[in-house]
Amino acid sequence: PQNHALIVAAGRGERSGLGLPKQYALIRGLPMVRHSAVKFLEHPDISKLWVVIQAGQEDQLLDALEELNNYEIVMGGATRQDSVKNGLSAIAAAGGAKNVLIHDAARPFLSQMMIDRLLASLEHESGVIPVLPVVDTTINIIDRYLEQALDRDALWRVQTPQAFNFNKLLKAHDLSSAEFDATDDAQIFKAAGNQVAIVEGDEALKKYTTAADFDQLSEKNMIQIR
Ligand code: C5P
Repeated sequence: PQNHALIVAAGRGERSGLGLPKQYALIRGLPMVRHSAVKFLEHPDISKLWVVIQAGQEDQLLDALEELNNYEIVMGGATRQDSVKNGLSAIAAAGGAKNVLIHDAARPFLSQMMIDRLLASLEHESGVIPVLPVVDTTINIIDRYLEQALDRDALWRVQTPQAFNFNKLLKAHDLSSAEFDATDDAQIFKAAGNQVAIVEGDEALKKYTTAADFDQLSEKNMIQIR
């Protein structure tokens, strides 16, 4: 009965405009994927880490996670959903887990507090996600013109890690079809008939996606490309 962590780092990172997969770009002196890997490996209640990567990037990952132990590498797929599924299959093949925390490598600034918060909620829930309110006015656009404002009080931003009972998530992924095109695991879990609980998210867990995200960092001299 153990908690495993699964980092998905098999994306192409094309929106970053960095000319290299963003998960290996240096942020605050460390490759992006290393930040959250260290947080999971240091947490006393996480017993194993799995990292899903693109085929051909083994050397980059080994380099990024130099001197860290207790993690396994899994090859990813064409979509995030495929990559998660490959990771879950690898965990299942190695004997399974009690719970799994699934995390985007693109959200480097994970805290021990967030892991604690998710694990505490999992004691009475089978699926839990961190969310934050929408603070900007949020609208629909049609043909490049404002159509209507949405009720932002009813909208929430969803982050990772997302924490689940392992067997239930595995089953949900097995039931899910590729056409569903889910951008996270909570949607897949919910579609399989499970409840997804929420905890308060963390602004520090923002996803680094576009060139602008990285430009901000480079201005502060926190990113280096090697
Ligand atoms: O593309 P997006 O920003 O939604 O990616 C979220 C996370 O999923 C990233 O950490 C990315 O590396 C990962 N991903 C993956 N396999 C894919 C696509 C995305 O592991 N095929």
